[in-house]
Amino acid sequence: MTDSKSPFAGGPLKTFGRRGGRPLSRRQRILMDELLPRISVPIDAPGALDPKTLLEDAAEIWLEIGFGGGEHVSGQAAAHPNVGILASEVFFEGIAKLLGQIEDEGLSNVRVWPEDARQMIDGLSAKSIDRAFILFPDPWPKARHQKRRIIQPDFLDALARIMKPGGRVRFATDVRSYADEALERFLAHPDFTWTARLADDWRTAPQDHIETRYQMKKLGDIEPVYYDFILSEQF
Ligand SMILES: C[S@@+](CC[C@H](N)C(=O)[O-])C[C@H]1O[C@@H](n2cnc3c(N)ncnc32)[C@H](O)[C@@H]1O
Repeated sequence: MTDSKSPFAGGPLKTFGRRGGRPLSRRQRILMDELLPRISVPIDAPGALDPKTLLEDAAEIWLEIGFGGGEHVSGQAAAHPNVGILASEVFFEGIAKLLGQIEDEGLSNVRVWPEDARQMIDGLSAKSIDRAFILFPDPWPKARHQKRRIIQPDFLDALARIMKPGGRVRFATDVRSYADEALERFLAHPDFTWTARLADDWRTAPQDHIETRYQMKKLGDIEPVYYDFILSEQF
């Protein structure tokens, strides 16, 4: 999808900082030029892409938004070869890192959207995603930047549209003000139900969580919280 066609051209605020970082290595440039086009998610019209057409053998389709260095995507893809994962990131170095992991580990069940995840979400067909991960999203801690956080009411509407009834969404952060705000917004949304029963359900890393290098830096102001939500079966 080109920027001119993007619903975000002149629209919602950017939820990310820089896209470029250090220059990519020669191998990374080759991966970006040759592997990425072969495994990109082909988004072109609103609501049109059924991801099962990309990952025909997958028993479930998962989504990861803002995958950073890709460790969680590649770890889950390796642990669940029967699942297809759509992975979105805008930071070139992170995209190149994930491509390296895909090549090194021979992962055939990952597809990459190297642009704003919100565009990919809008391009997917309704009720097409079984699980979604939003892990340690950019926290925008300064009060005047907090409107750039990705967890906004309209984002939750868009996410709810593509989730299957009974599908699951995991949000994690180590920033207190974001934890509080995100939980409030998910709870205010009619389609998401928080699955936690006990405090340990959200303050202990879930068994299937895979830590990333970013998480290990412990840049936040609290221990990580993990909020799992389930999509209402009703709609
Ligand atoms: C703080 S990092 C965390 C990365 C990773 N989830 C982890 O836990 O290691 C957040 C990432 O989300 C990406 N990001 C932010 N907004 C995004 C968007 N709208 N679409 C795709 N990626 C986004 C940023 O580029 C950044 O790499």
